Amino acid sequence: MVPARLCLLCLFIPQAFPGAQPAEVYVDVPENYGGNFPLYLTKLPLPRKETEGQIVLSGDSGVAAEGPFAVDPESGFLLVTRALDREEQAEYQLQVTLETEDGRVLWGPQHVLVHVKDENDQVPRFSQAIYKVQLSQGTRPGVPFFFLEASDGDAPGTANSDLRFHILNQAPSQPSADMFQLEPQLGALALSPEGSTSLDQALEGPYQLLVQVKDMGDQASGHQATATIDVSIVENTWVPLDPVHLAENLQVPYPHHVAQVHWSGGDVHYHLESQPLGPFDVDKEGKLYVTRELDREAQAEYLLRVRAQNTRGEDYAETLELHVVVMDENDNMPVCPPRGPAISIPELSPPGTKVAKLLVEDADAPGSPNSHIVYRLLSPEPEEGAEGRAFELDSTSGSVTLGAAPLQAGQNILLQVLVTDLGGAEGGLSSTCEIAVTITDINDHAPEFTTSQIEPLSLPEDTEPGTLVTTLMATDADLEPAFRLMDFAIEAGDVEGTFGLDWEPDSGRVQLRLLKNLSYEAAPSHKLVVVVRSVAEPVGPDPGPGATVTVTVLVERVVPPPQLDQESYEASVPVSTPAGSLLLTIRPSDPMSSPLRFSLVNDSEGWLCIEEVSGEVHIARPLQGAQPGDMYTVLVEAQDADEPTLSTSANLVIHFLKAPSAPTPTLAPVPSRHLCTPRQDRGVVVGGPRGDPDLAGGHGPYSFALGPNPTAQRDWRLRALNGSHAYLTLGLHWVEPREHVVPIVVSHHDLVWQIQVRVIVCRCNVEGQCMRKVGRMKGMPTKLSAVGILVGTLIAIGIFLILIFTHLTLARKKDLDQPVDSVPLKAAV
Ligand SMILES: *[C@@H]1O[C@H](CO)[C@@H](O)[C@H](O)[C@H]1NC(C)=O
Ligand SMILES: *[C@@H]1O[C@H](CO)[C@@H](O)[C@H](O)[C@H]1NC(C)=O
Ligand SMILES: *[C@@H]1O[C@H](CO)[C@@H](O)[C@H](O)[C@H]1NC(C)=O
Repeated sequence: MVPARLCLLCLFIPQAFPGAQPAEVYVDVPENYGGNFPLYLTKLPLPRKETEGQIVLSGDSGVAAEGPFAVDPESGFLLVTRALDREEQAEYQLQVTLETEDGRVLWGPQHVLVHVKDENDQVPRFSQAIYKVQLSQGTRPGVPFFFLEASDGDAPGTANSDLRFHILNQAPSQPSADMFQLEPQLGALALSPEGSTSLDQALEGPYQLLVQVKDMGDQASGHQATATIDVSIVENTWVPLDPVHLAENLQVPYPHHVAQVHWSGGDVHYHLESQPLGPFDVDKEGKLYVTRELDREAQAEYLLRVRAQNTRGEDYAETLELHVVVMDENDNMPVCPPRGPAISIPELSPPGTKVAKLLVEDADAPGSPNSHIVYRLLSPEPEEGAEGRAFELDSTSGSVTLGAAPLQAGQNILLQVLVTDLGGAEGGLSSTCEIAVTITDINDHAPEFTTSQIEPLSLPEDTEPGTLVTTLMATDADLEPAFRLMDFAIEAGDVEGTFGLDWEPDSGRVQLRLLKNLSYEAAPSHKLVVVVRSVAEPVGPDPGPGATVTVTVLVERVVPPPQLDQESYEASVPVSTPAGSLLLTIRPSDPMSSPLRFSLVNDSEGWLCIEEVSGEVHIARPLQGAQPGDMYTVLVEAQDADEPTLSTSANLVIHFLKAPSAPTPTLAPVPSRHLCTPRQDRGVVVGGPRGDPDLAGGHGPYSFALGPNPTAQRDWRLRALNGSHAYLTLGLHWVEPREHVVPIVVSHHDLVWQIQVRVIVCRCNVEGQCMRKVGRMKGMPTKLSAVGILVGTLIAIGIFLILIFTHLTLARKKDLDQPVDSVPLKAAV
């Protein structure tokens, strides 16, 4: 019998591996073994040769607590000495060593795990014999409202402890025998659909349920136990809730209790959701809280959903909804729109023109007084004395329009509007909004000249074209530079185009210039009308009289200055010239020009004087101090008798000559004549000065005298013939035959001239004609030549006499007399 049992047990050691390092040995032992003991479990892999050692078996921790186990030293088998209880100890960990007596380990340790194999020797047990459970009406079918608890001591995970629950009996069995259903594996008790329907109709119960728990899973065999569940049915308190109104900014301790829900069934867990997410919470008792202050402007309403759930998170019933309404408080002031760019309004816009509309927002509840806004214009204040405001504001709509008071271009106005909520009532919140307004310019002003009439302007006739006549200024009251651009034109008075205008478009200054030559004869004056216009299209009234200006230009006649017949004058005068002598006459170049008035500018010596009208220059006083060869320059001025401002001047240069021989350049030389010497009864007629037109006709009377030269006084005689002529004769019997220049002083009243009379003195024949030797060159015989001729003649006579006395007797054939080739001379020039 034993060997057979051993063989059987050998099967229990599949994990025993022989070797130097022995692996753990695993042994299964059935629980509550009912056979004989000791029971051989397995043969340990002891070494065969080492027999001196002693086999030691120890427990888990090394102590010798081997308990019911032992090793048979002879066979090397592990054995158990009594029946094992898995519920007492399910596993044993042993180790086997081979040791000497003094404790030296020869082999091992060999670990051995002994597992007690379960036997279904335990009965399942409910945690309570009687359970009391509350069941609320309205609990959904299938949702467990109670979980049975039962235990089984057998090995977990095996069929021995695999429990199943069943309802054995329901009492009462009305209105249905199957009011409940029990989930067999979990023991979850729920209403059946029938039961749910019946409970909704009437409050039944209570019910007593006899329930069973059984092990071995779904097998028919197994241990079982029973218990009683007393189910009492309670009224459904899970009812819809009224909306909750909560004031915003509520100053209370938080969390603040706001509502209560209650699920009257047992074992409930409340769950809360807020839509949108909000500061709400629910506690175990179903009290709802708000956990902090609410802000209506952030969220005005919340929808809370509350669920009553079992331990598995399943809803017992429908979700309860709770509306939370946040009540407004006037905690928001009106908010002005951001100040934008200035609004442009053209000037002269009519009253009522829309300027702007204030869009003020108040975040408080719309439609409530908290957001009821009224507007009031704070600024600009109405001007004193003005007939109204410049701007009007509608107190309810916030629309700004133009008022009656006028505005001016270029004005920048900041409108200030007080905006108050609560309809303007006391306690309302307010803000001040600002609107910038700019009044823009329109071209409503015509340009105008600063003066409408200017003094007549004089322009000399010879003014050069291009000359600036005058500069006119015009202004434009508009502000916009484009509206200030001006255009100028000569509208009238300049048909010929004699004048022109020059301007910079944006300056307002226009220059009137002469373009052509002026002519006094053609037009002694010009009346020009200059007009200015706006370049841009003007708006509003027509330009006034200021748009034109009249410029009167008077043409000044230009008379050329007088001109003299010479640029400068010269005269030579002997220093002995007596006072009163006429020097010369200064005349205008054009005898037809207007009469002149002459004067001497710087006759510092006072030697000269000039006749104012005739221009005759005379010696004023004897020329004492003047040296021959000196020059004396005097500036002569000639003024126009009609226009004293017109004048000219010329230098008069006087050359002083030696007293006797000073010629008078104005006197024409007297033609030369011839006289015979020795003296015959003849003379030459000398005429007066021929250069003087007044006197040329012999209007004398002149007095004639020989010049102061002593030789002339000796050699010549002068006898007056009549008022205009005199008779010059030789003073001596013999005067050397040659050309003589005889100075003669001619005087007429105070005037004195000296004239030179050229006279040729020559030998004459019987008829009184000058004789001259042929062969002599032209010209008069001189003293030397005459002496030469005389000596030559005497020598010739001497030679003849010698020849006569020498050859008197030889040859008396020739008769020599005076030269035969002498011819009478004509009057020399
Ligand atoms: C204008 O006058 C100047 C000088 O008097 C003269 O030289 C010029 O030719 C004149 N021009 C005309 C267009 O008559
Ligand atoms: C008179 O004026 C002219 C021109 O200025 C000058 O040449 C001359 O020497 C002056 N004569 C006297 C005497 O000062
Ligand atoms: C003066 O005498 C001259 C010469 O005999 C003569 O030619 C002249 O006509 C006379 N004049 C008068 C005014 O008698």
